Amino acid sequence: MAGEASEAIDVQSLFTVKGKTALVTGGSRGIGLMIARGYIESGAKVYITARKADVCDAVAKELSAIGECVSIPADIASPEGRAKLVAALSDAENSLDILVNNAGANWGAPFDEYPDSGVEKVMNINVNAVFALTRDFLPLLEKAAKPGEPARVINVGSIDGIHVPTMDNFIYPASKAAVHHLTHVLAVTLGERGITVNAIAPGPFESKMTEWMLENFKAVIEEQCPLHRIGAPSDMAGIAIYLGSRAGAYVNGAVIPVDGGIHLK
Ligand SMILES: NC(=O)c1ccc[n+]([C@@H]2O[C@H](COP(=O)([O-])OP(=O)(O)OC[C@H]3O[C@@H](n4cnc5c(N)ncnc54)[C@H](OP(=O)(O)O)[C@@H]3O)[C@@H](O)[C@H]2O)c1
Repeated sequence: MAGEASEAIDVQSLFTVKGKTALVTGGSRGIGLMIARGYIESGAKVYITARKADVCDAVAKELSAIGECVSIPADIASPEGRAKLVAALSDAENSLDILVNNAGANWGAPFDEYPDSGVEKVMNINVNAVFALTRDFLPLLEKAAKPGEPARVINVGSIDGIHVPTMDNFIYPASKAAVHHLTHVLAVTLGERGITVNAIAPGPFESKMTEWMLENFKAVIEEQCPLHRIGAPSDMAGIAIYLGSRAGAYVNGAVIPVDGGIHLK
């Protein structure tokens, strides 16, 4: 062999986020907590944010037993809350290697009665906050970007943004399709500045958001999944570590379903 193919790849350091600094929005429970824990176990310093300060602080304290975790409670649905988060992180760190835009919400109501306030709430947290935080963390992300080792933005979309969900659900799937296309657009825009932007599109995972659905339909969902199970925390941590690690350095603008193949059916 000759040329690049004969160079050592250093596989040991390929799938790790050791030494990186990450922010996981909505890191206090559910999918955000799965990602935060995976990053911490892999050796990253992780900031988590959520509205409920006592819960966010308690989770960060618990995770600090494994590694470095810092709580910055904030409501990222409001410009004031986002400004508070950006200011607190900018005071504490000179750069940010990984921004995980995970916090999101749903609103359930029959179509004929679906309120404007539901549309506003879902679009605001699921789409507006993703755009605004990526824009406002740009200075810190740019400082983390190195040749061959870009800073990462990882958006959490949903398979509901790929297929039409079977359950009555209207604005949420549209918001997630918007997250996926925002990911494409920002990947092209920010790639030029040393930052990759990708999205994880989860299928069903245990969380507060899916509590009611899994209590009532878990068996049906498992039956429909080609792998006959829902997602596990290690499935979510695995994809997030991949996208945040050197292994994912050349992946940009990808929307990766993590659903056991449900979206294909
Ligand atoms: N679970 C699934 O099966 C699934 C599937 C597809 C996609 N997703 C996506 O995965 C992401 C996480 O969902 P999840 O299921 O883990 O939901 P979850 O259990 O409801 O967790 C949501 C997290 O976001 C935080 N949060 C909500 N609104 C916030 C706000 N305005 N400001 C700051 N933090 C806020 C929550 O903490 P506070 O309440 O304290 O603010 C919590 O930490 C969402 O984007 C969701 O759409 C989930």
